[in-house]
Amino acid sequence: MQEKLDELMKLRAKARLGGGQERIDKQHAKGRMTARERIELFLDDGSFEEFDMFKTHRCTQFGMKEKEFLGDGVVTGYGTVNGRVVYIFSQDFTVFGGSLSETFAEKICKVMDLAMKNGAPVIGFNDSGGARIQEGIESLAGYTDIFLRNVMGSGVVPQISAIFGSCAGGAVYSPALTDFTVMVKNNSFMFLTGPKVVKSVTHEDVTVEDLGGATVHASKSGVCHYAAESGADAIEYIKKLLSYMPQNNVENPPVVKNDDPPDRRDEALNSIIPKNPNKAYDIKEVIARTVDNGEFLEIQPEFAANLVIGFARYDGYPIGIVANQPESLAGVLDNDSSVKGARFVRFCDCFNIPIVTFVDVPGFLPGTVQEYSGIIRNGAKMLYAYAEATVPKVTVVTRKAYGGAYCVMSSKHLRGDINYAWPGAEIAVMGAKGAVEVLYAREAKKSDDPQAFLAEKEKEYADAVANPFVAAKRGYIDDIIEPARTRFRIVKALQLLKNKRDTNPMKKHGNIPL
Ligand code: HXC
Repeated sequence: MQEKLDELMKLRAKARLGGGQERIDKQHAKGRMTARERIELFLDDGSFEEFDMFKTHRCTQFGMKEKEFLGDGVVTGYGTVNGRVVYIFSQDFTVFGGSLSETFAEKICKVMDLAMKNGAPVIGFNDSGGARIQEGIESLAGYTDIFLRNVMGSGVVPQISAIFGSCAGGAVYSPALTDFTVMVKNNSFMFLTGPKVVKSVTHEDVTVEDLGGATVHASKSGVCHYAAESGADAIEYIKKLLSYMPQNNVENPPVVKNDDPPDRRDEALNSIIPKNPNKAYDIKEVIARTVDNGEFLEIQPEFAANLVIGFARYDGYPIGIVANQPESLAGVLDNDSSVKGARFVRFCDCFNIPIVTFVDVPGFLPGTVQEYSGIIRNGAKMLYAYAEATVPKVTVVTRKAYGGAYCVMSSKHLRGDINYAWPGAEIAVMGAKGAVEVLYAREAKKSDDPQAFLAEKEKEYADAVANPFVAAKRGYIDDIIEPARTRFRIVKALQLLKNKRDTNPMKKHGNIPL
């Protein structure tokens, strides 16, 4: 027996070396961890249980018979993060550049299937040269088997991807199908086709970083939800993300012990709104002053900054926050922010995470750029997402809620459960200035002093319409609250809604305007 055990240990040690020490050294020289080092850093100490350590490829072409590495370039299994089970795969660049073969895909599918059966999140660490070139169609089939599982698992178990190195070609679609994608600044990239193909097709000269680096995807395309400073930072961010999520769609998110008084007042909120309605303030400060211990995990901070999204807790209960940001484009809704918000609202709804919405929105951004890129279609996504969401929805209008953007931002009419407004809120069809220019254009021309005439009408309109009382009289706003008490009012509203049950009509699925 001892002999057999020694042999087993020898094989395990060999598998753990992946593509060999030389290639591991190369990986380190690039400032990257190995597949196993990433798992080690991510999971609780000693919790990792590995599968398929001895699995090898079945390819016989191009001299592959002589090139076999135990595990075939991906480390798979399960373990715990802060005591909660996760299933994981981590691509090993030291074996055929982490490229995906038939057997490599089988290993990933195995953990994805187990995660679905057992109701636990799937975490994918990507670092791969794409389809294994020696295999061809088998690797394409393998990718597609994974895509299918990504789709079937969507809304059932949380799926999170990290890109630690390369992720090119069709390989990008698995991370894109998952709920959150984290990248590492200056050390990871994602693109469909690399700079050489780009040059030959479009004649563009572009570097890898400018084409698909973390900064590009975090700020321009919105593919990346967080651009980490390092691999370790990416891993830490994913752990934090997981702490707000339930294990699956039939569980509630985990409640933590809270030491921040639920009824804590914050006097600064009574004076945070500037006197001039066109002056900005930072909505993140409002968020930080109301949530437990000021802790807010922002998602996509660099993309569509006019809408802030992320996770926080009220009295220990995880919630998703959506908030217009007056400091960026005056907080308007545009194409990117609508898509960003809609996807986040849908994630929260999938996983029973209540949504708290802070509204300060002057409307949708006008203009040809927006119209040509489909603001009608994209704005409708946000509408759709809020309308179909059945999780508890608490809304606080801090200042402006104008026009279509009022309707969209978790209004009463889209099944907002508890809708509050601060006393200075302006809830109306449009801003007073724009309104009087439409209503009184002809009369203004006839008057001796058109400017003074319009200014007077503007004040009249604002006094009559642009306040929270008109909406409160109709019951569209449940109460007008003192800003300093916002935290307590939200905590109470969420407590009230703790056992909320709401349903949508039976259907195969809706048809969100994609
Ligand atoms: C097999 C691969 C490989 C691949 C890399 N390697 N990519 N082996 N299939 N796709 C191997 C290399 O031969 C090398 O082996 C080792 O991995 C490290 O590669 P290097 O090139 O030395 O590393 P580096 O300089 O860091 O460059 C990394 C890279 C480059 C940018 C990812 O390797 C590259 O461009 N690879 C090919 C990318 C590609 O075109 N993939 C197919 C995309 S099409 P040794 O033995 O020397 O260590 C696709 C379709 C999927 O993915 C569609 C799904 C629907």
